[in-house]
Amino acid sequence: RSATARLALQGAHLFHYQRRRHSPLIWLSTKSLFVPGQAIRGGIPICWPWFGAHPYDSSLPQHGFARTAAWNFVESREYSDEITELTMLLLDSPESRRIWPFSFELELRVSVGESLTASLVTRNPGDRSITITSALHSYLAVSDISRCSVHGLDARRYFDKVSGKWALQKGALCVDRETDRIYQDVSYPLTVHDVEHTVKINAQGSSSAVVWNPWKEKCSEMADMADDSWKTMLCVEAANVLEDARTIAPGKKHALTLVIAC
Ligand code: BG6
Repeated sequence: RSATARLALQGAHLFHYQRRRHSPLIWLSTKSLFVPGQAIRGGIPICWPWFGAHPYDSSLPQHGFARTAAWNFVESREYSDEITELTMLLLDSPESRRIWPFSFELELRVSVGESLTASLVTRNPGDRSITITSALHSYLAVSDISRCSVHGLDARRYFDKVSGKWALQKGALCVDRETDRIYQDVSYPLTVHDVEHTVKINAQGSSSAVVWNPWKEKCSEMADMADDSWKTMLCVEAANVLEDARTIAPGKKHALTLVIAC
């Protein structure tokens, strides 16, 4: 086997990925609660059909409902000794229609091998267009955040959720404070340079990316993160956010694909 992975049925949430003879590439909080209705802290939560706070109803869950919904396992296929592909499905239900009144078919295909691919396909079986914002919210394991940099975002506009302002990225991004940014017009791949390795983040069906680290203070306020755990994680998320929101016409689909390789 080239790698191992673990996926929860709740949220179709991949929460472990480790290549053989390497440390985990994906970060998982030691304090993650694994309780129904609450997203696992770490792994790759699926933010869908909206990213972040709901645009006008703050009583609705942050990052949508897909990451805490009960998904259906469809199949597992072995393509060789080296690659296993898992497929999970979420369909609209009376419960989902109460908070998002649309028909949908949401499929996650995860391919586990020397690299990790997650493909989130939104199909619109209904008779009205649907507009989604979304992210494959990948938590990368890093050895030391203070010596980490993200490359490939130079000259991109970003909305800084910490300051509430738009800005322009200059050069590589060194994460040296609370960072919560939505980059626009992104051309993948991005690379994350860590002391021990360089991780390549590739995406298709996406021209936006989110970079998040809560830093010391916010981290200490989070019940499901150990106090110093912000030092060893960095979220770099392939997204469809802000101007990169997607509208899917009846009968059409959209695929957001994330590939993490080292
Ligand atoms: C990031 C958002 O993607 O996710 C942040 O940009 C947010 O604003 C973070 O704090 C974690 O969100 P949550 O809901 O999992 O705590």
